[in-house]
Amino acid sequence: MPDERPGPGEILVRASASALNFNEVDGCHGRYLTIDPPLPYTLGMECVGEVVAAGAGAESWVGKRVTASSRGAVGAHAELVAASTAMSFEAPAQLDDGQAAAFFYPFHLAYLGLHERGRLAPGETVLIHAGAGGVGSAAVQLAAAAGARVIATVGRDDKRSLVEELGADLTVNYRTDDFVQVALEATSGRGVDVCFDGVGGSTTAGSLRCLGRGGRYLCVGFAAGIEAEEQSLISGRALCFGNFDMVGVILAYVDSAIAAHLTEHVAVPVPRFNPPTDAIGRRVQDSLLELLDQGRIRPVVGATVPFEDLPRALEDMEARRTVGRTVVTR
Ligand SMILES: NC(=O)c1ccc[n+]([C@@H]2O[C@H](COP(=O)([O-])OP(=O)(O)OC[C@H]3O[C@@H](n4cnc5c(N)ncnc54)[C@H](OP(=O)(O)O)[C@@H]3O)[C@@H](O)[C@H]2O)c1
Repeated sequence: MPDERPGPGEILVRASASALNFNEVDGCHGRYLTIDPPLPYTLGMECVGEVVAAGAGAESWVGKRVTASSRGAVGAHAELVAASTAMSFEAPAQLDDGQAAAFFYPFHLAYLGLHERGRLAPGETVLIHAGAGGVGSAAVQLAAAAGARVIATVGRDDKRSLVEELGADLTVNYRTDDFVQVALEATSGRGVDVCFDGVGGSTTAGSLRCLGRGGRYLCVGFAAGIEAEEQSLISGRALCFGNFDMVGVILAYVDSAIAAHLTEHVAVPVPRFNPPTDAIGRRVQDSLLELLDQGRIRPVVGATVPFEDLPRALEDMEARRTVGRTVVTR
């Protein structure tokens, strides 16, 4: 493939490591409509490396070690990766390349969900689905660090110990046990205050049956089946009676100056595209660095694989065999 070239406001990163994101599994199958570039294209949304070139306005980034999400959320498993500065952050010095690759995306998405959008407060109960996954493992740690009571679901019993170690108070294998009943019992029937859902489908339906008054349902992803992306989550009556909030969460920081005019450029039909701004991204990064410095959060690298093993690693992710982030080295 030809080398990428950075445009205005973009940097070019010589990637030393990248990380797998579940969206790539759907991308491989050609069923991820949100990111569906013409074939052939290079997979990858998340990388770490050194900035070797920059477009107009981004010159000061050259030479920095960064974590970045690639332009258009593709191409991060390449050697040279183009990224906007809005979706790039200096890599924390205390993290090695693999840890840094595993840090940026899961923690930013989890923080945006729980705090920016979910208004999580100390003492509240939060239900986190796929708590051992990349984003889930970050959400469990952030919720525990915020003083919340954490109920985490996992798809296999051997994932329980990880989420407990990360701060979950209660774990449920939602493939064998009824998480709705567990959440209701744990809250004396009131229901949970926040639900962080990157799984979707029947898990969403169950989540809405155990969400309490004033609760916030965070719509993060659809790992159980991307087709759920096109389906309604809830009827008006159920929302009215539930007396809770349905909250969308997207990680795609965009330059503040252009964030308000993006709807018409989105490839898939949506009534509005309201991405968070780069100013929000910087604020989230500062909060995360503080927690990292205090030792209250850590990136979870479940596996590190050489580039040649990337296809097998994606198969492992699809088969629910991975925990945390899988890091791909060069
Ligand atoms: N909103 C956004 O901006 C945004 C951006 C990127 C990604 N996402 C989404 O965030 C979610 C988490 O992403 P991630 O990269 O960290 O993935 P991940 O959580 O590491 O992997 C997905 C997990 O989902 C669970 N799962 C439940 N049903 C599944 C099924 N039928 N097939 C496969 N997995 C299933 C599995 O955990 P258990 O076996 O423990 O259940 C699996 O490990 C995904 O839905 C992803 O698409 C959202």
